[in-house]
Amino acid sequence: MTSNTKILLKTRCTGLPQEYDFEEVKEAIKDPQDGQIRCETLYLSLDPYLRGKINGRHISGSIFPGDLMAGEAISRVQVSNDPKFNEGDLVISHSGWQSHPIINICDATKIIDHGIPISTYLGIMGMPGLTAYAGLLRLAEPKDNDVVLVSAASGAVGSMVGQIAKIKNCQVIGIAGTNEKCDWVKNVAGMDNCINYKTEILPEKIKEFCPNGVDIYFDNVGGELLQAAIEQLALYSRVVLCGLMAQYNSDSMPAGPNPAWIIKSRAIVKGMVVYDHEDLRKQCMLDISKWIKEDRIQYLEDVTEGLGKAPEAFSRLMRGTNHGKTIIKVNN
Ligand SMILES: NC(=O)c1ccc[n+]([C@@H]2O[C@H](COP(=O)([O-])OP(=O)(O)OC[C@H]3O[C@@H](n4cnc5c(N)ncnc54)[C@H](OP(=O)(O)O)[C@@H]3O)[C@@H](O)[C@H]2O)c1
Repeated sequence: MTSNTKILLKTRCTGLPQEYDFEEVKEAIKDPQDGQIRCETLYLSLDPYLRGKINGRHISGSIFPGDLMAGEAISRVQVSNDPKFNEGDLVISHSGWQSHPIINICDATKIIDHGIPISTYLGIMGMPGLTAYAGLLRLAEPKDNDVVLVSAASGAVGSMVGQIAKIKNCQVIGIAGTNEKCDWVKNVAGMDNCINYKTEILPEKIKEFCPNGVDIYFDNVGGELLQAAIEQLALYSRVVLCGLMAQYNSDSMPAGPNPAWIIKSRAIVKGMVVYDHEDLRKQCMLDISKWIKEDRIQYLEDVTEGLGKAPEAFSRLMRGTNHGKTIIKVNN
């Protein structure tokens, strides 16, 4: 072993990443400086967020042509120049697509042996596992018998969401893109049902499997899958917007509200129905009348005289050419 093999981004991919978008280079192996370790990469994690980094659309920053491809990896320490790390230690770090990284020890975490295969520290025991665990348990707060729908259900995140939801006594419906994946979701991961969205009519199947609505939708995809799921939400349901597989390969942002901004800002989006807030009416009227009298609130009314003018006024309202609250003055 005399060289470090590195994979660089060669060109900014358009659409699906292709092999020719990347370039392999070799460099002489280096010795670690003080506070550094040299490692041998054992496992490298490939994750969808990397496509977002190439597009310059990920919160963790961008990858530019010529840069080492980013990625989390598990490595074994070969040479340590720090007393806290010894040869043979297993570490996890964001050392990227390279065979023999030099890692600053502040960027490396020693792996605690839980007696399961170390590759899982990149998957269910790692970032995707935490995403599923926290996204479901903390954000969606599942209750017994909740109906949970999860997309990309055979994937790293989705499979954990579905299985943790089963542990929490939920009824779980997965969505996946092949029959083989669906079989795994049902027969191995133990989810109650799985919809192949490529061969079945998704909205119909969601209705069939969730006749009383979806209590929790855990979205890893966005686009049409998100649309189909939200059409079948139960009252007081929770939607966790986690990922956007449907748009990562696209250079342009989709039309309409894009959940990317909600994910990025960690915003809480809640449904508002005025009928739920009748208990506030009295206080609301007291406050608003007071603010009007104090000249702290102004208002506009778009008043049309005569009931016969109602259709025209309604038409103006719906075309957006009203100015203020549309009112018909029927009688003096
Ligand atoms: N918010 C966060 O902090 C966070 C953290 C980790 C991951 N994530 C997100 O979670 C999602 C799942 O990540 P993962 O690592 O577990 O990936 P994964 O599910 O193992 O793989 C991605 C899967 O997405 C599905 N998919 C649906 N529509 C697709 C499309 N248009 N193009 C390509 N694939 C499509 C495919 O499965 P089907 O064939 O079943 O459709 C594919 O296998 C991703 O959106 C990822 O960005 C978010």
